[in-house]
Amino acid sequence: MNSYRTHSCDELRLSDVGKDVTLAGWVDTVRDHGGVIFIDLRDREGKTQVVFHPENNAELAKQAESLRVESVIQVTGKVDARLKTDEVDATNPDLATGEVEVSANGLKVLNRAAVLPFQLDRPVNNEDLRLKYRFLDLRRPNMQRNMILRHRITKAMRDYLDEQGFLELETPILSKSTPEGARDYLVPSRVCPGKFYALPQSPQQYKQLLMVAGLEKYFQIARCFRDEDLRADRQPEFTQVDIEASFITPEDIYTWIEQMLKRVFKESVGRDIPTPFPRMTWHDAMNQYGSDKPERRFEMKIADCSDIFANSDFRVFSGAIANGGVVKAINAKGFAPSVGQIDALTQTAVEAGAKGLAFIKVRDVEKREEWKSPVTKRLTDDELQALRERLGIESGDCIFFAAGEWEESCTILGRVRLQCADFMELLKDNHEVDLFWVTRFPMFAWDKEEGRYVAIHHPFTRPVPEDVDKVLNGEISTELCAEAYDVIFNGNELGGGSLRIHEKDLQDATFRALGLDEKTIHERFGHLLSAFSFGAPPHGGLALGLDRVVMLIGECESIREVIPFPKNNRAVDLMCEAPDTVDATQLRDIHIQVKLPEKLRQKLEAEAAAEAANQPQA
Ligand code: AMO
Ligand code: AMP
Repeated sequence: MNSYRTHSCDELRLSDVGKDVTLAGWVDTVRDHGGVIFIDLRDREGKTQVVFHPENNAELAKQAESLRVESVIQVTGKVDARLKTDEVDATNPDLATGEVEVSANGLKVLNRAAVLPFQLDRPVNNEDLRLKYRFLDLRRPNMQRNMILRHRITKAMRDYLDEQGFLELETPILSKSTPEGARDYLVPSRVCPGKFYALPQSPQQYKQLLMVAGLEKYFQIARCFRDEDLRADRQPEFTQVDIEASFITPEDIYTWIEQMLKRVFKESVGRDIPTPFPRMTWHDAMNQYGSDKPERRFEMKIADCSDIFANSDFRVFSGAIANGGVVKAINAKGFAPSVGQIDALTQTAVEAGAKGLAFIKVRDVEKREEWKSPVTKRLTDDELQALRERLGIESGDCIFFAAGEWEESCTILGRVRLQCADFMELLKDNHEVDLFWVTRFPMFAWDKEEGRYVAIHHPFTRPVPEDVDKVLNGEISTELCAEAYDVIFNGNELGGGSLRIHEKDLQDATFRALGLDEKTIHERFGHLLSAFSFGAPPHGGLALGLDRVVMLIGECESIREVIPFPKNNRAVDLMCEAPDTVDATQLRDIHIQVKLPEKLRQKLEAEAAAEAANQPQA
């Protein structure tokens, strides 16, 4: 290969026996078998066993024995076949190089490793510790696999989009706020005192402006920044595969994304996925699964039972319907929840807005007294019979109800459904891939707190053709549909996009529908409206969350497993200790004074002291 090494640690085979080789890498393990020292030498590609025989060179064997794991060494030696007879088998079928070993005659220590903060060959539960020493954590084989997978996936996407005629173009990081629903990260300007850049939540406006600029097909592996509550699938900075194209219909977007993901699966994990992806409207997704990103790998669909309970004596149900609401139910087949599980499910329902979670444990479907529930005594035989037919109830099933407003009731049962599946381990060891589109999202939602409409996607999204005039005429309601689509992968939102507004008057009307006044519209979006008055082509696009794509294809628990240097759930980079304080002069340069309220300052100091006392010992 070069002067450091002739082969990688994954390369040597029986056909290499007798060759003089040089390998370089990390000491994975050191074992002493009666004075003979075995080292597994590891590099990115794999491992090779190196043997130091004391009878050949006692000094060298001693040196090898003293090596700490994770030290970096260079070894020269001869390739030997490992012993394999009827009595002894020294080969290792789990290792690509398992039939050979290198008998060392030279050893150079390139860097001695100190005692490690954690062992690399076993799971570490303390994620903060892993993140503090991420450079070590990344050496672990599964993390190396994730990084390689990330590269393969990104490469397959780039290749595909290039072949389809997309141009890879960068857009500014220091930019102006684009609303995607999160808080912005702000950067103060030195040159323009008192002014701030916003880090982009997405390249949305720039990519639309590239379409106005006549570039027709654009993509970018784009870093996006959103100051929002973090979860397993959310980071404050994350990567989108962002695309935009002109003179297209949604069908073009569907085809590109489907073909791109097909190629990604094939080239990254060798898997064939069927295309085209099925499609489902937002309304059906909510109505049947209680989620705009349904997990469809198990059934447990939401059923409407409003007709059954319209005149019920049970006021919780009939009252909801009288108020224009619904009664929805799910049947968790064969689920016998414990009291603790019922409590947890109720808690979930309440967090989603429910007043309670009515349920029936059906121990024996034929015996009314075996329908165990706080509510059955208030339901009639006819109601229970109708319910039995509607939900296909059998002995051993458990039924959950939500009564109230349609969307809220669906959402409540959607969450209960997922938690039941979790308790029932319905998805354990499930490696199915369910990729599909959710279409026809509502254009607007009513924000009770702010007392105004908000955009469900973002304010550049087009209404469906039949609703364009309504937006233009200011007839705004939550009934209006957007020409927007999300791609869903096993219950996760992988990406979202839309056809855009390209007409100044429609964009203006949409901003007004969102309660923005003329001045705000001009200040925040004047550039876009200006662009739309100089020949803007019809256009649209989509962005996939790259981290999520890699997480899901790699079957990882969190996107942190597929990002080289992620932040923890408080948006802190524990390795570099960012965010951090800065020098007074730096602050002066950018005209910033930090003034924390006294109480907050004391709280932070106390926290810092407690944290320092708890520091993991290296
Ligand atoms: P959206 O806001 O739906 O659309 O984002 C697109 C995709 O980006 C991923 N994503 C995230 N991944 C990790 N951490 C986060 N905090 C995070 N937020 C979003 C998701 C999501 O589906 N400009 C539009 C796209 C368009 O209309 O073309 C946009 O950003 O996988
Ligand atoms: P109550 O009549 O208030 O005693 O409620 C009877 C049962 O219905 C309890 O188990 C509650 O948890 C449940 N419940 C109350 N409100 C709702 C609702 N809107 N949807 C579903 N179940 C409910």
